[in-house]
Amino acid sequence: MDSLSIVILAAGKGKRMYSSKPKVLHPIGGEPMLARVIRTARALKPARLIVVYGHGGEQVRAAIPDADLIWAEQAEQLGTGHALKMALPHLPKDGKTMVLYGDVPLTKADTLRRLSDAAGAGMAVLTDVLDDASGYGRMVRGADGKLQAIVEHKDCTPAQLAIREINTGMMALPNARLAGWLAALNNGNAQGEYYLTDVLALAVADGVSVDSASVDASWEAAGVNNKVQLAELERILQRNQAQALLEAGVTLADPARIDIRGELSHGMDVSIDVGCVFEGKVELGEQVEIGAHCVLKNVKVAAGTKIAPFSHLEDAVVGEACRIGPYARLRPGAQLAGHVHIGNFVEVKKSVIGEGSKVNHLSYVGDAEIGSKVNVGAGSVTCNYDGVNKFKTVIGDNVFVGSGTLMVAPVTLESYSTIGAGSVISRTAPAGELTVARARQVTVPGWKRPQKKTD
Ligand code: UD1
Ligand code: CA
Repeated sequence: MDSLSIVILAAGKGKRMYSSKPKVLHPIGGEPMLARVIRTARALKPARLIVVYGHGGEQVRAAIPDADLIWAEQAEQLGTGHALKMALPHLPKDGKTMVLYGDVPLTKADTLRRLSDAAGAGMAVLTDVLDDASGYGRMVRGADGKLQAIVEHKDCTPAQLAIREINTGMMALPNARLAGWLAALNNGNAQGEYYLTDVLALAVADGVSVDSASVDASWEAAGVNNKVQLAELERILQRNQAQALLEAGVTLADPARIDIRGELSHGMDVSIDVGCVFEGKVELGEQVEIGAHCVLKNVKVAAGTKIAPFSHLEDAVVGEACRIGPYARLRPGAQLAGHVHIGNFVEVKKSVIGEGSKVNHLSYVGDAEIGSKVNVGAGSVTCNYDGVNKFKTVIGDNVFVGSGTLMVAPVTLESYSTIGAGSVISRTAPAGELTVARARQVTVPGWKRPQKKTD
Protein backbone atom coordinates (compact mmCIF):
# COMPACT_ATOMS: atom_id res chain seq x y z
CA MET A 1 0.00 0.00 0.00
CA ASP A 2 2.44 2.60 1.24
CA SER A 3 5.17 1.59 -1.17
CA LEU A 4 7.69 4.26 -2.10
CA SER A 5 8.90 4.89 -5.63
CA ILE A 6 11.74 7.28 -6.30
CA VAL A 7 12.14 9.02 -9.64
CA ILE A 8 15.43 10.75 -10.39
CA LEU A 9 15.21 13.38 -13.11
CA ALA A 10 18.44 13.29 -15.07
CA ALA A 11 17.58 14.20 -18.63
CA GLY A 12 18.94 17.74 -18.63
CA LYS A 13 21.69 18.61 -21.11
CA GLY A 14 24.10 20.42 -18.85
CA LYS A 15 25.17 22.76 -21.64
CA ARG A 16 27.06 25.01 -19.25
CA MET A 17 29.41 22.20 -18.23
CA TYR A 18 31.01 22.57 -21.71
CA SER A 19 31.69 18.87 -21.72
CA SER A 20 31.02 15.87 -23.94
CA LYS A 21 30.16 13.98 -20.77
CA PRO A 22 26.51 14.11 -19.66
CA LYS A 23 26.18 16.41 -16.65
CA VAL A 24 25.03 13.76 -14.17
CA LEU A 25 28.15 11.69 -14.86
CA HIS A 26 30.56 14.37 -13.69
CA PRO A 27 32.14 13.08 -10.50
CA ILE A 28 31.73 14.42 -7.03
CA GLY A 29 33.66 12.71 -4.24
CA GLY A 30 35.05 10.36 -6.89
CA GLU A 31 31.75 9.05 -8.23
CA PRO A 32 29.24 10.29 -10.79
CA MET A 33 26.72 12.74 -9.30
CA LEU A 34 23.93 10.42 -10.37
CA ALA A 35 25.51 7.44 -8.58
CA ARG A 36 25.57 9.47 -5.37
CA VAL A 37 21.91 10.46 -5.74
CA ILE A 38 21.05 6.80 -6.34
CA ARG A 39 22.95 5.80 -3.22
CA THR A 40 21.06 8.35 -1.12
CA ALA A 41 17.78 7.22 -2.67
CA ARG A 42 18.55 3.60 -1.78
CA ALA A 43 18.88 4.56 1.88
CA LEU A 44 15.10 5.11 1.83
CA LYS A 45 14.59 1.53 0.62
CA PRO A 46 12.28 2.42 -2.26
CA ALA A 47 10.27 -0.36 -3.86
CA ARG A 48 11.43 0.94 -7.24
CA LEU A 49 14.00 3.40 -8.46
CA ILE A 50 13.43 5.06 -11.81
CA VAL A 51 15.89 7.27 -13.65
CA VAL A 52 14.57 9.59 -16.34
CA TYR A 53 17.38 9.98 -18.82
CA GLY A 54 17.73 11.80 -22.08
CA HIS A 55 20.85 13.58 -23.18
CA GLY A 56 23.78 11.14 -23.57
CA GLY A 57 21.47 8.33 -22.50
CA GLU A 58 23.64 5.40 -23.55
CA GLN A 59 26.66 6.86 -21.76
CA VAL A 60 24.60 7.37 -18.61
CA ARG A 61 23.21 3.84 -18.63
CA ALA A 62 26.64 2.35 -19.27
CA ALA A 63 28.18 4.29 -16.39
CA ILE A 64 25.53 3.22 -13.89
CA PRO A 65 25.36 -0.55 -14.12
CA ASP A 66 22.89 -1.16 -11.25
CA ALA A 67 20.71 -3.96 -12.61
CA ASP A 68 17.56 -3.08 -10.67
CA LEU A 69 17.19 0.48 -11.96
CA ILE A 70 14.29 1.28 -14.23
CA TRP A 71 15.30 3.60 -17.05
CA ALA A 72 12.71 5.88 -18.59
CA GLU A 73 13.70 7.88 -21.62
CA GLN A 74 12.72 11.49 -22.13
CA ALA A 75 13.71 12.08 -25.73
CA GLU A 76 12.94 15.79 -25.69
CA GLN A 77 13.40 17.96 -22.61
CA LEU A 78 10.04 19.64 -22.37
CA GLY A 79 10.14 20.38 -18.65
CA THR A 80 10.19 18.69 -15.27
CA GLY A 81 6.48 17.81 -15.45
CA HIS A 82 6.99 16.14 -18.81
CA ALA A 83 10.04 14.32 -17.40
CA LEU A 84 8.04 12.81 -14.55
CA LYS A 85 5.37 11.78 -17.04
CA MET A 86 7.96 9.54 -18.72
CA ALA A 87 8.23 7.59 -15.45
CA LEU A 88 4.48 7.26 -15.03
CA PRO A 89 4.09 3.90 -16.82
CA HIS A 90 6.49 2.37 -14.28
CA LEU A 91 4.66 3.66 -11.20
CA PRO A 92 2.04 1.65 -9.33
CA LYS A 93 -1.44 3.09 -8.89
CA ASP A 94 -0.99 3.65 -5.19
CA GLY A 95 1.80 4.46 -2.74
CA LYS A 96 3.89 7.58 -3.12
CA THR A 97 6.53 8.87 -5.45
CA MET A 98 9.47 11.01 -4.49
CA VAL A 99 11.12 13.16 -7.14
CA LEU A 100 14.86 13.84 -6.92
CA TYR A 101 17.27 15.54 -9.32
CA GLY A 102 20.32 13.79 -10.72
CA ASP A 103 22.30 17.02 -10.52
CA VAL A 104 21.60 17.72 -6.84
CA PRO A 105 24.10 15.35 -5.26
CA LEU A 106 24.41 16.24 -1.57
CA THR A 107 20.93 15.81 -0.12
CA LYS A 108 20.91 13.80 3.11
CA ALA A 109 18.78 10.69 3.37
CA ASP A 110 17.37 11.94 6.70
CA THR A 111 16.08 15.06 5.02
CA LEU A 112 14.33 12.96 2.39
CA ARG A 113 12.76 10.87 5.14
CA ARG A 114 11.37 14.07 6.64
CA LEU A 115 10.02 15.03 3.22
CA SER A 116 8.29 11.68 2.93
CA ASP A 117 6.85 12.02 6.44
CA ALA A 118 5.63 15.54 5.69
CA ALA A 119 3.75 14.24 2.65
CA GLY A 120 1.91 11.55 4.56
CA ALA A 121 -0.81 10.46 2.13
CA GLY A 122 -0.73 13.85 0.42
CA MET A 123 1.93 15.98 -1.18
CA ALA A 124 5.02 17.67 0.25
CA VAL A 125 7.74 19.85 -1.18
CA LEU A 126 11.28 20.21 0.12
CA THR A 127 12.01 23.91 0.53
CA ASP A 128 14.76 26.24 1.62
CA VAL A 129 14.93 29.89 2.53
CA LEU A 130 17.55 31.87 0.64
CA ASP A 131 18.76 35.46 0.87
CA ASP A 132 18.96 35.50 -2.89
CA ALA A 133 16.21 33.39 -4.38
CA SER A 134 16.90 34.35 -8.01
CA GLY A 135 16.28 31.60 -10.50
CA TYR A 136 14.26 29.43 -8.17
CA GLY A 137 10.58 28.66 -8.04
CA ARG A 138 8.94 30.59 -5.16
CA MET A 139 6.68 28.95 -2.57
CA VAL A 140 3.51 31.02 -2.52
CA ARG A 141 1.58 30.79 0.74
CA GLY A 142 -1.79 32.23 1.73
CA ALA A 143 -2.44 34.49 4.71
CA ASP A 144 -3.02 31.31 6.70
CA GLY A 145 0.50 30.18 5.85
CA LYS A 146 -0.80 27.28 3.74
CA LEU A 147 0.89 26.56 0.44
CA GLN A 148 -1.04 27.67 -2.61
CA ALA A 149 1.33 27.39 -5.56
CA ILE A 150 4.89 27.33 -6.79
CA VAL A 151 5.68 30.11 -9.22
CA GLU A 152 8.82 29.95 -11.35
CA HIS A 153 11.13 32.96 -11.16
CA LYS A 154 10.41 33.97 -14.74
CA ASP A 155 6.65 33.88 -14.10
CA CYS A 156 6.71 35.79 -10.79
CA THR A 157 4.95 39.06 -10.10
CA PRO A 158 7.17 41.67 -8.44
CA ALA A 159 5.56 40.78 -5.10
CA GLN A 160 6.28 37.07 -5.62
CA LEU A 161 9.89 37.83 -6.51
CA ALA A 162 10.33 39.07 -2.94
CA ILE A 163 9.50 35.60 -1.54
CA ARG A 164 12.61 33.97 -0.16
CA GLU A 165 11.20 30.48 0.42
CA ILE A 166 12.12 28.43 -2.61
CA ASN A 167 11.32 25.08 -4.18
CA THR A 168 14.34 22.78 -4.06
CA GLY A 169 12.63 20.67 -6.72
CA MET A 170 12.43 17.60 -4.51
CA MET A 171 8.89 16.54 -3.66
CA ALA A 172 6.73 13.61 -2.63
CA LEU A 173 3.45 12.94 -4.37
CA PRO A 174 0.54 10.50 -4.03
CA ASN A 175 0.50 8.10 -6.99
CA ALA A 176 -3.29 7.93 -7.02
CA ARG A 177 -3.45 11.58 -8.15
CA LEU A 178 -0.30 11.80 -10.22
CA ALA A 179 -1.57 10.68 -13.62
CA GLY A 180 -4.42 13.19 -13.46
CA TRP A 181 -2.24 16.06 -12.38
CA LEU A 182 0.45 15.41 -14.97
CA ALA A 183 -2.19 15.16 -17.69
CA ALA A 184 -3.54 18.54 -16.63
CA LEU A 185 -0.21 20.38 -17.02
CA ASN A 186 0.21 22.81 -19.86
CA ASN A 187 3.16 24.79 -21.14
CA GLY A 188 1.57 28.21 -21.23
CA ASN A 189 4.30 29.89 -19.21
CA ALA A 190 7.36 32.07 -19.63
CA GLN A 191 9.59 29.11 -20.58
CA GLY A 192 7.07 27.13 -22.64
CA GLU A 193 7.70 24.09 -20.44
CA TYR A 194 5.54 21.56 -18.64
CA TYR A 195 6.32 22.53 -15.07
CA LEU A 196 6.11 19.81 -12.43
CA THR A 197 5.76 22.64 -9.93
CA ASP A 198 2.25 23.35 -11.24
CA VAL A 199 0.96 20.16 -9.58
CA LEU A 200 1.02 21.92 -6.22
CA ALA A 201 -1.84 24.24 -7.15
CA LEU A 202 -3.68 21.25 -8.63
CA ALA A 203 -3.28 19.37 -5.34
CA VAL A 204 -4.66 22.34 -3.43
CA ALA A 205 -7.62 22.56 -5.81
CA ASP A 206 -8.26 18.83 -5.32
CA GLY A 207 -8.28 19.26 -1.54
CA VAL A 208 -5.18 17.07 -1.15
CA SER A 209 -3.06 18.01 1.84
CA VAL A 210 0.07 19.91 0.87
CA ASP A 211 2.93 20.41 3.28
CA SER A 212 6.61 21.20 3.19
CA ALA A 213 9.81 20.03 4.79
CA SER A 214 13.00 22.02 4.79
CA VAL A 215 16.64 21.21 4.31
CA ASP A 216 19.10 21.47 7.21
CA ALA A 217 21.65 23.25 5.07
CA SER A 218 21.36 24.94 1.69
CA TRP A 219 24.01 22.71 0.12
CA GLU A 220 21.56 19.81 0.40
CA ALA A 221 19.49 21.43 -2.31
CA ALA A 222 22.29 22.95 -4.35
CA GLY A 223 22.38 21.81 -7.95
CA VAL A 224 25.21 21.69 -10.43
CA ASN A 225 24.87 23.62 -13.65
CA ASN A 226 28.53 24.43 -14.29
CA LYS A 227 32.03 23.57 -13.13
CA VAL A 228 32.05 26.42 -10.63
CA GLN A 229 29.09 24.92 -8.76
CA LEU A 230 30.55 21.43 -9.10
CA ALA A 231 33.81 22.61 -7.49
CA GLU A 232 31.89 24.38 -4.71
CA LEU A 233 29.88 21.27 -3.87
CA GLU A 234 33.01 19.12 -3.99
CA ARG A 235 34.57 21.36 -1.32
CA ILE A 236 31.42 21.15 0.82
CA LEU A 237 31.39 17.37 0.53
CA GLN A 238 35.09 17.17 1.45
CA ARG A 239 34.62 19.53 4.38
CA ASN A 240 31.74 17.39 5.66
CA GLN A 241 33.78 14.19 5.32
CA ALA A 242 36.76 15.75 7.10
CA GLN A 243 34.46 16.93 9.87
CA ALA A 244 33.11 13.39 10.30
CA LEU A 245 36.67 12.01 10.54
CA LEU A 246 37.62 14.56 13.20
CA GLU A 247 34.49 13.75 15.15
CA ALA A 248 35.44 10.07 14.98
CA GLY A 249 38.86 10.80 16.47
CA VAL A 250 41.12 10.98 13.43
CA THR A 251 43.80 13.66 13.63
CA LEU A 252 43.88 15.81 10.51
CA ALA A 253 46.66 18.37 10.19
CA ASP A 254 44.22 20.51 8.21
CA PRO A 255 40.62 19.45 7.53
CA ALA A 256 40.62 21.70 4.48
CA ARG A 257 43.48 19.79 2.89
CA ILE A 258 42.30 16.20 2.59
CA ASP A 259 40.29 14.64 -0.22
CA ILE A 260 38.38 11.41 0.13
CA ARG A 261 37.01 10.04 -3.10
CA GLY A 262 35.48 6.87 -1.80
CA GLU A 263 35.37 5.25 1.60
CA LEU A 264 37.98 5.74 4.28
CA SER A 265 37.71 3.53 7.36
CA HIS A 266 40.08 3.78 10.30
CA GLY A 267 41.05 2.52 13.73
CA MET A 268 41.89 4.71 16.73
CA ASP A 269 44.67 7.31 16.80
CA VAL A 270 45.16 7.60 13.08
CA SER A 271 46.78 10.80 11.90
CA ILE A 272 46.86 12.29 8.45
CA ASP A 273 49.03 15.18 7.34
CA VAL A 274 48.09 17.76 4.70
CA GLY A 275 47.45 17.15 1.03
CA CYS A 276 46.52 13.47 1.11
CA VAL A 277 44.08 11.91 -1.35
CA PHE A 278 42.20 8.70 -0.59
CA GLU A 279 40.44 6.91 -3.40
CA GLY A 280 38.23 3.86 -3.56
CA LYS A 281 38.20 1.76 -0.43
CA VAL A 282 40.98 2.57 2.03
CA GLU A 283 41.36 0.98 5.45
CA LEU A 284 43.80 2.39 8.00
CA GLY A 285 44.54 0.41 11.17
CA GLU A 286 45.13 1.85 14.62
CA GLN A 287 47.92 4.37 14.99
CA VAL A 288 48.63 4.57 11.30
CA GLU A 289 50.34 7.80 10.33
CA ILE A 290 50.11 9.19 6.83
CA GLY A 291 52.63 11.88 5.90
CA ALA A 292 51.95 14.87 3.71
CA HIS A 293 50.89 14.52 0.08
CA CYS A 294 50.32 10.80 -0.09
CA VAL A 295 47.84 9.19 -2.49
CA LEU A 296 46.24 5.92 -1.40
CA LYS A 297 43.81 4.05 -3.62
CA ASN A 298 42.17 0.77 -2.60
CA VAL A 299 44.72 0.10 0.09
CA LYS A 300 44.68 -1.71 3.40
CA VAL A 301 47.24 -0.54 5.97
CA ALA A 302 47.63 -2.44 9.23
CA ALA A 303 48.18 -0.96 12.68
CA GLY A 304 51.21 1.14 13.53
CA THR A 305 52.47 1.64 10.00
CA LYS A 306 53.93 5.00 9.05
CA ILE A 307 53.78 6.24 5.51
CA ALA A 308 56.16 9.12 4.92
CA PRO A 309 55.38 12.05 2.59
CA PHE A 310 54.84 11.83 -1.17
CA SER A 311 54.15 8.12 -1.30
CA HIS A 312 51.72 6.59 -3.77
CA LEU A 313 49.96 3.31 -2.98
CA GLU A 314 47.41 1.55 -5.16
CA ASP A 315 45.70 -1.83 -4.77
CA ALA A 316 48.21 -2.78 -2.11
CA VAL A 317 48.15 -4.42 1.31
CA VAL A 318 50.57 -3.20 3.96
CA GLY A 319 51.17 -5.12 7.18
CA GLU A 320 51.62 -3.73 10.64
CA ALA A 321 54.43 -1.46 11.80
CA CYS A 322 55.85 -0.96 8.32
CA ARG A 323 57.83 2.10 7.25
CA ILE A 324 56.94 3.31 3.79
CA GLY A 325 58.50 6.20 1.89
CA PRO A 326 59.11 9.05 1.58
CA TYR A 327 58.59 8.85 -2.18
CA ALA A 328 57.65 5.18 -2.24
CA ARG A 329 55.40 3.64 -4.84
CA LEU A 330 53.37 0.52 -4.15
CA ARG A 331 51.62 -0.62 -7.30
CA PRO A 332 48.80 -3.17 -7.69
CA GLY A 333 49.52 -6.49 -6.05
CA ALA A 334 52.13 -5.22 -3.60
CA GLN A 335 51.64 -7.23 -0.42
CA LEU A 336 53.83 -6.42 2.53
CA ALA A 337 53.98 -8.43 5.74
CA GLY A 338 54.67 -6.71 9.08
CA HIS A 339 57.73 -4.55 9.87
CA VAL A 340 58.71 -4.14 6.23
CA HIS A 341 60.65 -1.04 5.18
CA ILE A 342 60.15 0.41 1.72
CA GLY A 343 62.27 3.48 1.23
CA ASN A 344 62.61 6.39 -1.13
CA PHE A 345 62.20 5.88 -4.86
CA VAL A 346 61.39 2.23 -4.47
CA GLU A 347 58.70 0.73 -6.67
CA VAL A 348 57.00 -2.53 -5.74
CA LYS A 349 54.58 -4.25 -8.11
CA LYS A 350 52.74 -7.59 -7.78
CA SER A 351 55.14 -8.85 -5.15
CA VAL A 352 54.94 -10.41 -1.74
CA ILE A 353 57.50 -9.17 0.76
CA GLY A 354 57.97 -11.09 4.02
CA GLU A 355 58.18 -10.00 7.64
CA GLY A 356 60.92 -7.53 8.50
CA SER A 357 62.41 -7.27 5.01
CA LYS A 358 63.84 -4.00 3.74
CA VAL A 359 64.07 -2.40 0.35
CA ASN A 360 65.31 0.99 1.34
CA HIS A 361 66.55 2.91 -1.66
CA LEU A 362 66.04 3.31 -5.40
CA SER A 363 64.98 -0.24 -6.26
CA TYR A 364 62.40 -1.97 -8.44
CA VAL A 365 60.72 -5.11 -7.18
CA GLY A 366 58.24 -6.62 -9.64
CA ASP A 367 56.72 -10.11 -9.82
CA ALA A 368 58.80 -11.18 -6.86
CA GLU A 369 58.35 -13.35 -3.84
CA ILE A 370 60.63 -12.16 -1.08
CA GLY A 371 60.96 -13.99 2.23
CA SER A 372 61.46 -12.54 5.69
CA LYS A 373 64.46 -10.54 6.96
CA VAL A 374 65.76 -9.91 3.46
CA ASN A 375 67.81 -6.83 2.73
CA VAL A 376 67.71 -5.54 -0.81
CA GLY A 377 70.51 -3.04 -1.32
CA ALA A 378 70.20 0.31 -3.02
CA GLY A 379 69.52 0.41 -6.73
CA SER A 380 68.66 -3.25 -7.16
CA VAL A 381 66.28 -4.34 -9.88
CA THR A 382 64.24 -7.43 -10.63
CA CYS A 383 64.50 -7.71 -14.40
CA ASN A 384 61.07 -9.26 -14.79
CA TYR A 385 60.21 -8.47 -18.37
CA ASP A 386 61.72 -9.56 -21.67
CA GLY A 387 59.56 -7.25 -23.72
CA VAL A 388 56.80 -9.85 -24.04
CA ASN A 389 56.63 -12.05 -20.96
CA LYS A 390 56.83 -11.44 -17.23
CA PHE A 391 59.00 -13.69 -15.06
CA LYS A 392 59.26 -14.27 -11.37
CA THR A 393 62.08 -13.62 -8.94
CA VAL A 394 62.11 -15.74 -5.77
CA ILE A 395 64.19 -14.59 -2.83
CA GLY A 396 64.36 -16.81 0.27
CA ASP A 397 64.52 -15.74 3.91
CA ASN A 398 67.54 -13.85 5.26
CA VAL A 399 68.99 -13.12 1.84
CA PHE A 400 71.33 -10.15 1.54
CA VAL A 401 71.25 -8.55 -1.90
CA GLY A 402 74.18 -6.20 -2.43
CA SER A 403 73.58 -2.78 -3.94
CA GLY A 404 73.14 -2.47 -7.65
CA THR A 405 72.17 -6.07 -8.21
CA LEU A 406 70.22 -7.05 -11.30
CA MET A 407 68.13 -10.20 -10.84
CA VAL A 408 67.31 -11.54 -14.29
CA ALA A 409 64.07 -13.48 -13.85
CA PRO A 410 63.14 -16.25 -13.72
CA VAL A 411 65.69 -16.61 -10.97
CA THR A 412 65.95 -17.78 -7.38
CA LEU A 413 68.11 -16.47 -4.55
CA GLU A 414 68.04 -19.19 -1.92
CA SER A 415 67.79 -18.57 1.84
CA TYR A 416 70.81 -16.99 3.52
CA SER A 417 72.50 -16.39 0.21
CA THR A 418 74.53 -13.21 -0.09
CA ILE A 419 74.90 -11.40 -3.39
CA GLY A 420 77.91 -9.19 -4.03
CA ALA A 421 77.16 -5.62 -5.04
CA GLY A 422 76.82 -4.96 -8.74
CA SER A 423 76.00 -8.55 -9.62
CA VAL A 424 73.90 -9.65 -12.56
CA ILE A 425 72.23 -12.77 -11.22
CA SER A 426 70.66 -14.97 -13.88
CA ARG A 427 71.04 -18.41 -12.29
CA THR A 428 70.17 -19.76 -8.84
CA ALA A 429 72.24 -18.27 -6.02
CA PRO A 430 72.72 -21.21 -3.66
CA ALA A 431 71.69 -21.14 -0.02
CA GLY A 432 74.14 -19.79 2.50
CA GLU A 433 76.83 -18.91 -0.10
CA LEU A 434 78.27 -15.67 -1.39
CA THR A 435 77.58 -15.26 -5.08
CA VAL A 436 79.27 -12.51 -7.04
CA ALA A 437 78.56 -12.05 -10.73
CA ARG A 438 80.53 -9.09 -11.99
CA ALA A 439 83.75 -8.45 -13.91
CA ARG A 440 86.83 -8.42 -11.70
CA GLN A 441 88.48 -5.08 -11.06
CA VAL A 442 91.65 -4.44 -13.04
CA THR A 443 94.22 -1.74 -12.67
CA VAL A 444 96.29 -0.82 -15.77
CA PRO A 445 99.77 0.12 -14.60
CA GLY A 446 101.34 3.20 -16.14
CA TRP A 447 98.22 4.25 -18.03
CA LYS A 448 98.22 7.98 -18.96
CA ARG A 449 95.22 10.23 -19.29
CA PRO A 450 94.94 12.04 -22.64
CA GLN A 451 96.18 15.64 -22.30
CA LYS A 452 94.69 18.78 -23.87
CA LYS A 453 97.12 20.59 -26.18
CA THR A 454 98.43 23.84 -24.71
CA ASP A 455 99.87 26.59 -27.02
C1 UD1 B 1 13.42 23.61 -11.17
C2 UD1 B 1 12.07 23.97 -10.58
C3 UD1 B 1 12.21 25.18 -9.67
C4 UD1 B 1 13.22 24.90 -8.61
C5 UD1 B 1 14.56 24.47 -9.22
C6 UD1 B 1 15.49 24.01 -8.16
C7 UD1 B 1 10.40 23.35 -12.24
C8 UD1 B 1 9.51 23.86 -13.30
N1 UD1 B 1 11.17 24.27 -11.67
O1 UD1 B 1 13.81 24.68 -12.00
O2 UD1 B 1 10.97 25.49 -9.09
O3 UD1 B 1 13.41 26.05 -7.80
O4 UD1 B 1 14.35 23.37 -10.12
O5 UD1 B 1 16.75 23.77 -8.71
O6 UD1 B 1 10.39 22.20 -11.94
N2 UD1 B 1 14.95 17.81 -16.16
C9 UD1 B 1 14.62 16.74 -16.96
N3 UD1 B 1 13.86 16.93 -18.04
C10 UD1 B 1 13.39 18.16 -18.38
C11 UD1 B 1 13.73 19.26 -17.58
C12 UD1 B 1 14.51 19.05 -16.47
O7 UD1 B 1 15.01 15.61 -16.68
O8 UD1 B 1 12.69 18.24 -19.42
C13 UD1 B 1 15.76 17.58 -14.97
C14 UD1 B 1 17.11 18.27 -15.05
O9 UD1 B 1 18.09 17.38 -15.57
C15 UD1 B 1 17.40 18.62 -13.61
C16 UD1 B 1 16.02 18.84 -13.01
O10 UD1 B 1 15.11 18.18 -13.88
O11 UD1 B 1 17.99 17.54 -12.93
C17 UD1 B 1 15.67 20.30 -12.88
O12 UD1 B 1 15.72 20.90 -14.13
P1 UD1 B 1 16.19 22.38 -14.31
O13 UD1 B 1 16.07 22.74 -15.74
O14 UD1 B 1 17.50 22.58 -13.65
O15 UD1 B 1 15.05 23.15 -13.50
P2 UD1 B 1 15.03 24.63 -13.06
O16 UD1 B 1 14.61 25.46 -14.22
O17 UD1 B 1 16.28 24.98 -12.40
CA1 CA C 1 18.45 23.84 -12.01
